[in-house]
Amino acid sequence: MSATLASPDIARVGKAPRLRGTLEVPGDKSISHRGALMNAIAHGTATIDNYLPGADCLSTLECLRALGVEVTFDPTGAPGGKPRVTVVGRGGQLAEAIRPLDCGNSGTTMRLLAGLLAGQPIFSVMTGDASLSSRPMARVVDPLRQMGARISGRQGGRLAPIAIEGGNLTAIDYQSPVASAQVKSCVLLAGVQTEGITIARSPAASRDHTERLLTAQGAKLETNDDGTVVAVHGGARLQAVDVIVPGDTSSAAYWLALACIHPDAEITVQNVGMNPGRTGFVEILREMGGNVEVRNERVVAGEPFADLVARSSRLKGVKVGGTVVPRAIDELPLVAIVGLFADGLTEIRDAAELRVKESDRIASLGREISRLGGQVEELPDGLRVLGGASLESAACETLGDHRLAMSLAVAGLAGVGVDVIDAGCAVVSYPGFWQQIRSVGGTVALSDEGVDRA
Ligand code: S3P
Repeated sequence: MSATLASPDIARVGKAPRLRGTLEVPGDKSISHRGALMNAIAHGTATIDNYLPGADCLSTLECLRALGVEVTFDPTGAPGGKPRVTVVGRGGQLAEAIRPLDCGNSGTTMRLLAGLLAGQPIFSVMTGDASLSSRPMARVVDPLRQMGARISGRQGGRLAPIAIEGGNLTAIDYQSPVASAQVKSCVLLAGVQTEGITIARSPAASRDHTERLLTAQGAKLETNDDGTVVAVHGGARLQAVDVIVPGDTSSAAYWLALACIHPDAEITVQNVGMNPGRTGFVEILREMGGNVEVRNERVVAGEPFADLVARSSRLKGVKVGGTVVPRAIDELPLVAIVGLFADGLTEIRDAAELRVKESDRIASLGREISRLGGQVEELPDGLRVLGGASLESAACETLGDHRLAMSLAVAGLAGVGVDVIDAGCAVVSYPGFWQQIRSVGGTVALSDEGVDRA
């Protein structure tokens, strides 16, 4: 990997004696993807302010350009000097790309784009990096085939590359075996382009950013009380809608976790997204005894925002399972890290989905927590972590998994330090993460600033 400021090979994180600060995290990954993808098929032009300039969301923009969408990215064009993306909607009709669409590391790009492309009478091929090419795609290929899309891919369409010939779909009533916002969104995005009512059923509720934006664009949606059944009426004329992206809830979680497990910390994160499908981690942290204050709650452009203040806390272990899991799915690695600093046992169950994220996060957490001297037991569907072990400084491998890299950094900042190998992968969801550690008083040395790998 090249040594740029944003992507060091190695980050040497030291134990921080005292942490204080107020910060903002970059824009939400899920909402940025949706703002670009969904406005691409709408009528009119939309701006997406505070768009996340992370590698995943940039992959989405490149795919859209290849599909004939006029997209501009201005790194400082939004109020406050934040990034602005402008998308000129193609009024329901994407162009056939002359080359495969490279989704990079981004599962959201591939799975949501699959839904968009299935509704289009064009031929498309989607590819990704090694991690994405090993992640399950049958979960979106199955419902899209049921709707009539012709799809082929590796292992019968279970793995990327995936080729889609779409158009002329039939509405379906689909029960997903997994509680996945990506699957739900894929079905809804195909359904909104299809005559009739398409229904997406899930075993548990998940983030509803797609539903909010589709409604704002003029589609008719109905959702049941617990959010597990969503129906979309096809055939609406989707209107372009400007989006103001909140700070990413999942990125804010690193600072909240860090402040709570550190003995002398107070960190405020401003303008954080508080979509109910994303707030599971705050609930878990509070249940553990975490001192997290929610201030200034408000709704901006259809999504809830708040400022969060987290302080040093006396924590106890917790059992996590059931319906909170999809609402905290990307923060479960952090729950395991927080468990290292809590009294007693922390147990995460019902989370087999962690095995098919950017890495097998159950295996990678088990391996790296052990390396740090923590007591951890891998389970088929989760982890057990026993708090209170005296941690050791270690060099940890991330296998290119951004969330693992940043979760390990949190452990190092509150514990006795850690060398995070392949730290640059954080740029997938959080450009500037390593540098921002310094803004709250943490110490980090980066290989692109002269630290050598031990
Ligand atoms: C996402 C949904 C989640 C999450 C991912 C983003 C989304 O995946 O892990 O980082 O934007 O819809 P699943 O829906 O597959 O659990």
